[in-house]
Amino acid sequence: MTTTTHYHYSDETLFISLLCLSFLSFILIHRRRARRHGLPPGSQGIPFVGETLQLISAYKTENPEPFIDERVGRYGPVFTTHVFGEPTVFSTDPDVNRLILHGEGKLVDVSYPGSISNLLGKHSLLLMKGSLHKRMHSLTMSFSNPSILKDHLLFDIDRLVRRNLRSWSDRVLLMEEAKKITFELAMKQLMSLDPSEWTERVRKEYVLVIEGFFTVPLPLFSTTYRRAIQARTKVAEALSLVVRERRKEVEVSSAGREEEKDKKKKKKKNDMLAALLAGDEGFSDEQIVDFLVALLVAGYETTSTSMTLAVKFLTDTPLALAQLREEHDQIRAKKKEGEALEWSDYKSMPFTQCVVNETLRVANIIGGVFRRAITDIPVKGYVIPKGWKVFASFRAVHMDQDHFKDARTFNPWRWQVNYIIRAASPGNVYTPFGGGGRLCPGYELARVELSVFLHHLVTRFSWEPAEEDKLVFFPTTRTQKQYPINVRRRDQDQAA
Ligand code: HEM
Repeated sequence: MTTTTHYHYSDETLFISLLCLSFLSFILIHRRRARRHGLPPGSQGIPFVGETLQLISAYKTENPEPFIDERVGRYGPVFTTHVFGEPTVFSTDPDVNRLILHGEGKLVDVSYPGSISNLLGKHSLLLMKGSLHKRMHSLTMSFSNPSILKDHLLFDIDRLVRRNLRSWSDRVLLMEEAKKITFELAMKQLMSLDPSEWTERVRKEYVLVIEGFFTVPLPLFSTTYRRAIQARTKVAEALSLVVRERRKEVEVSSAGREEEKDKKKKKKKNDMLAALLAGDEGFSDEQIVDFLVALLVAGYETTSTSMTLAVKFLTDTPLALAQLREEHDQIRAKKKEGEALEWSDYKSMPFTQCVVNETLRVANIIGGVFRRAITDIPVKGYVIPKGWKVFASFRAVHMDQDHFKDARTFNPWRWQVNYIIRAASPGNVYTPFGGGGRLCPGYELARVELSVFLHHLVTRFSWEPAEEDKLVFFPTTRTQKQYPINVRRRDQDQAA
């Protein structure tokens, strides 16, 4: 018995000693590497896990700021940490963020976790690099630019938002509704598809794909990931059908009889898919499908979350809601019942733009971007070594009291002097849409979608939260319960 206990004790001691030894060597190796490279100061946390658990537990709350505040206080605005399996340089500095955003292909390359890149597909714009990326990025930009928005998209956005809001009564899960709207808009913009049972079925599969983004990419261990891969295949099959059908149409119209050509010309679609099929690149169906999936991903969660959070912040700030409603009631007063919004209406929503700016500042779904250094990058007297991950945190800058007075309060009036925000704002302190070579191609489209949604919401409904719901920032920025609200038609309010 004693002997057994003795052996047991020795095993334990050996195990603990080995653990201490590996921990010590981990720290020593890291320190030596840090000295050699002139790395920014910081902590690598515990071996293998690093500081991932601290980060996750901070970002699962309404107030994630202490994670960054503590480290900035201890090490300064650029520090090293170890998160999601890799040592990472974390920047909370607007100049360094700018260097990273504008260093695409020269200093850094994109770097997404394995789970996301597998599900996106290898031909996704988000993963493309070099000259192909440049060409495809500007093609995407050209499909969301102000003149297309003005001439086509505004009309579709207005129609689809109204169509969705028509069915609202009593309790509404705002996030779910906003997602439906943004998905329908994307299907229209990309492939000229109107909402149907088919598009709704694709959306349901697509939601499963997104769920897989935030799991461990090991199908054997994660049911969510397995399900996401199966759903990705189904989404790809569905979109391939559309692509094949449209390819046939293009072939008929370029080789068919004159009368058939004329018929097709009349129906010619002016969407992203048409541009991809007509390009000189000769894209395969698989390339086009990957490209479309990426655009659906990029615009879906981002815009729908912003819609939901704008409503949450307005509900919590009644003065702002009253001012917004007045702006939209004035626009409605000049229009006939049911008349669609025009570009000039969109351009006369200055306070709405303040609300949009402020929503994206305090709760942007893209808190920052990961990149991989492709060369040693000197920053602020340190070096980010080649091969290291870098995280340029937009949220840290947006929440910094040095850049925004009373930064942690939702205050749309702060934008009143200059509510028009250029894509790259002066001083780089406001970057909800990123910047440089990967600047969000949907930045204007998202603003229009948000503004039109708010217009129809505040002019038709009053509401209150159906339950208490809290903001969280991990795995993405959202509310815990999809923000349920009880809505009432305003004409009923007035009749009562
Ligand atoms: C409020 C809504 C939105 C926000 C906050 C947002 C934010 C961002 C940010 C920060 C990036 C840069 C990512 C990086 O640098 O790695 C980005 C990229 C992108 N966004 Fe958006 N976005 C929004 C809506 C949209 C919409 C509606 C579309 C649809 C066209 C879209 C399409 C894209 C695409 C395709 C990229 C990748 C660009 C590239 O890698 O070249 N986004 N977005």
